Amino acid sequence: MNRQIPFLRSPIVLAPIAGPGTPELTAAVADAGAFAFLASPYSAPDAIRRDVERIRELTDKPFGINLFVESELQQIEDDVLHQADARLDTYRDELGIAHHERPARPPAHYREQIEAVLEARPQAFSFTFGIPDAGTIAALKEAGIYTIGTATSVEEARALEEAGIDAVCAQGAEAGGHRGSFLNDGANVLIGTLALVPQVVDAVTIPVIAAGGIGDGRGVAAVLALGATAAQLGTAFLLAPEAGTSPAYRAALIRASARDTVITKAFSGKAARGIANRVTQELSDESLRAPYPYQNALTRDIRNAAAKQDRAEYLSLWAGQASALAREERAAQIVRRLLIEAREASVQAATALETIPITQG
Ligand SMILES: Cc1cc2nc3c(=O)[nH]c(=O)nc-3n(C[C@H](O)[C@H](O)[C@H](O)COP(=O)(O)O)c2cc1C
Repeated sequence: MNRQIPFLRSPIVLAPIAGPGTPELTAAVADAGAFAFLASPYSAPDAIRRDVERIRELTDKPFGINLFVESELQQIEDDVLHQADARLDTYRDELGIAHHERPARPPAHYREQIEAVLEARPQAFSFTFGIPDAGTIAALKEAGIYTIGTATSVEEARALEEAGIDAVCAQGAEAGGHRGSFLNDGANVLIGTLALVPQVVDAVTIPVIAAGGIGDGRGVAAVLALGATAAQLGTAFLLAPEAGTSPAYRAALIRASARDTVITKAFSGKAARGIANRVTQELSDESLRAPYPYQNALTRDIRNAAAKQDRAEYLSLWAGQASALAREERAAQIVRRLLIEAREASVQAATALETIPITQG
């Protein structure tokens, strides 16, 4: 069984973090010796091409692109969409932005996004919310792109391996941002990283990347001990100057403690972990929202305006449970610190265990 990921130069991976992620952050982390993703689920195909070009201007190191897997769009009644949209007008009034004449709809550009990835040929392609169809997986392999799928349960990890995916990202419930769940409801099946990673490692033969609540090098050492090939961190990089995290978001992260995050469907209709705020509280009831990805399209103008106006109460403040461990350091410094801390933590663990006598059974 080979759990190596051939192009990894260290066991640290910058998670795809749509929103705060920038080509500059991806390039800085790649240059610092870790593997780095750029999340492009909300990018138009041409924007993906431009971002890839920008990363290649900034670094000659390998990197990955990430997308949300889109399945057939569930059709919804017009009045459900209008009602969910009208529910958001209070926020639009408070932010001084226009109501929609017609509710915004999610863009249908997934196939073109995949085409852009195939053309760009990043070292790796990671995805969440499902499994691409067999033709897409074959095309990615044909292009020499390493594939990584996201699982939040053992069943999902097995399904990814069966589909021929090269590696699995085991995402624990502590993780910031959207949960990758596709066979279970991400809001109800909440398995923590410490429990999920070793069970996924036992269930599949492909490499496992651990994600969720890894806030510093101690967490990196811990998931390597659980059998993961690498640790993928998102929240830990949100305060880096290279990240596009808005000032209001940064301030909320700095204030937040481990108790302050919740799993919410308020912003997108899909389960995601973020810092609780007015929107997560007021739209907690399903009857007040449209399903994913419609809700995501409906709230986009509000989130954009709130970021410009520094209004954290209307922002999706995606963050994991270890957000209090995030530091305002340059990306390269974060990578360096994670490696030093991980080494120290593993020595400490080995030393603690060495001195324990194990009695004969
Ligand atoms: C701001 C933010 C945006 C995210 N966007 C994406 C995304 O676009 N695609 C994806 O697969 N995962 C996304 N995630 C999840 C991360 O890839 C990763 O699983 C998570 O950050 C790991 O947990 P941590 O935040 O505790 O480190 C996002 C997470 C955050 C915090």
